[in-house]
Amino acid sequence: MGVVEFATSPWGQTVPIHISFVLIWVFAIGGLAFLIVHAIWLRYFARKEEFEASGTAAPNVPAKVARHSLAARLFHWLMAASMFALLITAFLPKVGVQFPWVTYHWIAGVVLTVSIIYHIIHATFFMDFWSIWPDKADLEDASNRMKRFMGQDAPAPRRFAKYPLENKMYHGVILLTGLAVILTGVFMMFRVKTAIFPRNPYLFGDMTWGLMYVLHGLAGVGLIALIMVHIYFAVRPEKFVLTKSMVFGTLPKEYYLEHHDPERWAVENGSSESSKRAKASA
Ligand code: HEM
Repeated sequence: MGVVEFATSPWGQTVPIHISFVLIWVFAIGGLAFLIVHAIWLRYFARKEEFEASGTAAPNVPAKVARHSLAARLFHWLMAASMFALLITAFLPKVGVQFPWVTYHWIAGVVLTVSIIYHIIHATFFMDFWSIWPDKADLEDASNRMKRFMGQDAPAPRRFAKYPLENKMYHGVILLTGLAVILTGVFMMFRVKTAIFPRNPYLFGDMTWGLMYVLHGLAGVGLIALIMVHIYFAVRPEKFVLTKSMVFGTLPKEYYLEHHDPERWAVENGSSESSKRAKASA
């Protein structure tokens, strides 16, 4: 059984039509396997997180450190709701729960698309755009962590900026998969009856449509595993404080000082301005 299903077009050409939906199970089981292996590794084998001794006195850190603005939190939960709606409407019919899913699906798709456009504008012009992209310090620290893991001599890593490298890498992967489902999904709306575009199934040839459905499906099943991993980390006891910050907006001062470097993520006098200010004063 292949990854892609093919059909013969009216002109006798063999064209891809969509992914093989057995991939739903492959990615769901793959995601589950990751969670189990990670939980066992953390419980029985992982060493305690180690950071270099903190060299910065941070006398002005407030008791509650602002991490996510209200606008950012509202975006996150709206995006999460639309993502769940998309996964449920896309995959339940494929595993045997039949209902007229297409309308609910494209409406949730439009909500996701609009929320992502909003997020791109918000992050580019109003948030610290660079805080979510890996920087030189992240790469040096990752290399040092790897060396220490292998038993080699290397300095302890610094505390994190606003986001650890793992979060930044996850954001990069979800960005690519998210853009893939959105861009293909918007075009796929021309294949079905929607209130937004006039239907035009002749916009592309059979091969292009087929490849588009395959990319949409591949990114879609990828999101099953990615969302499972995201929820797993969100409910892990040691990370739950971060999940709470996505509800209430703040982190406790003790957590901030233990995990974050005030020089890389400056939060003083109640404000939470990321590395932008730290870099400007460096
Ligand atoms: C979590 C994100 C998403 C997932 C998991 C997902 C998954 C899927 C799957 C599995 C299909 C069936 C494809 C097939 O039969 O080959 C589908 C169809 C469709 N998707 Fe999505 N999708 C997502 C996001 C979106 C977005 C953002 C849009 C629109 C902006 C969208 C619009 C559509 C449309 C219009 C169809 C119906 C195509 C048809 O029946 O001809 N999807 N989606």
